[in-house]
Amino acid sequence: MLNWDHIFATRSSRMRASEIRELLKLLDRPDIISFAGGIPDPELFPDAEFKEAYAEIFDGPAVSAALQYSVSEGYRPLRQWLAKQMAALGIPATVDNIFITSGSQQGLDYLGKLFLSPKDTALVTWPTYLGALQAFNAYEPTYDQLNPGGNRTPEAYRQQAALAGGRVKFAYLSADFANPTGETVDRAGRERVLDLAEELDVAVIEDAAYQSLRYDGEAIPPILALEIARKGDINSTRTIYCGSFSKTLAPGLRVGWVCASETVIRKLVLMKQAADLHSSTINQMAICTVAERGFDEQVQKIHRVYKHRRSAMLAALEKYMPAGVTWTKPEGGMFVWVTLPKGTDGAELLAKSIQTAKVAFVPGRAFFADGSGENTLRLSFSCANDKMIDEGIRRLGDLVRGEMAEAA
Ligand SMILES: Cc1ncc(COP(=O)(O)O)c(C=O)c1O
Repeated sequence: MLNWDHIFATRSSRMRASEIRELLKLLDRPDIISFAGGIPDPELFPDAEFKEAYAEIFDGPAVSAALQYSVSEGYRPLRQWLAKQMAALGIPATVDNIFITSGSQQGLDYLGKLFLSPKDTALVTWPTYLGALQAFNAYEPTYDQLNPGGNRTPEAYRQQAALAGGRVKFAYLSADFANPTGETVDRAGRERVLDLAEELDVAVIEDAAYQSLRYDGEAIPPILALEIARKGDINSTRTIYCGSFSKTLAPGLRVGWVCASETVIRKLVLMKQAADLHSSTINQMAICTVAERGFDEQVQKIHRVYKHRRSAMLAALEKYMPAGVTWTKPEGGMFVWVTLPKGTDGAELLAKSIQTAKVAFVPGRAFFADGSGENTLRLSFSCANDKMIDEGIRRLGDLVRGEMAEAA
């Protein structure tokens, strides 16, 4: 077999399949209750609406444009609809501030490419979205810990980045119902991240993949809205908002967007020309039609279902988890984050859980840029019904209790 290692670019050395993903692939078994996948419930997809939208495109004059090459910025009517959505969030944007991506994951990849030279520092929360680490890793950065509640000085961040051989380039965070913790950054935390970014003169990447999934509590303005309130104009801001239709409409169409200053958008457009020319036109058209006709109704529908599941999972954790185990109480999103007593290893627990309890989850370590967090796990409630939640958490609670008794 040919040895490719010395031919591959150095950046590829950090592209490795995670052991956990490999393990989770095996979990599509009917005897396992899985809280592992962080995906939307397919029962909630607006499939009839999509069917109608595609039929209308194929039956009408738009079919040629739908099947033809198109502009890299994205389908204009969709960008116009998004500009109105952003305005409703306190972000007065024009179509020139909106760029359509193939899922928000592509936005993260492009932003890594745009900002990170090898050895530059990306500030990320501990833990953070695994897909963001995978996207950024290709650009060979180092990571430092962003803590919206903390008070490390800009100078400390600067020194750390210089030691690593580069400079800080951006702070990346999910302010609403983060993957994996389900937690929300409060307004003061968002302001602190902006202050830090100002002082370091770096970008803020606001990953808003779950922002529409708030089930209770007061909405907090996006970081981009808070920055516009400071500066008066989106084109003077440093915050780059990444949105997605994956959690609200459907992920399979791969449509997301970036909303930011025109200077950043123009660079992203050039990247797209080099990478894939444009996102699928027909999918953007279908998303646009379905969103225009019933985005709010669709969001209300998923809220009802996920809110119920979230509450069922929190109630089951309360009922079955032994003392010494703690978890987040998310107001939205798809995840609950569990912290086990120190010394418990989430990956070992998963291996046992698959054998005995037959419950799957994601061990938390994969979400930490420094490989810590071994005593944490991520549970997703998005695809689980009441019975699965009660039974699955009961079995997991028993397993954890047994492990704790053994360790004592
Ligand atoms: C926090 C976060 N950001 C981005 C994404 C990527 O979503 P998509 O590319 O489907 O828009 C995900 C997907 O799970 C996510 O959890």
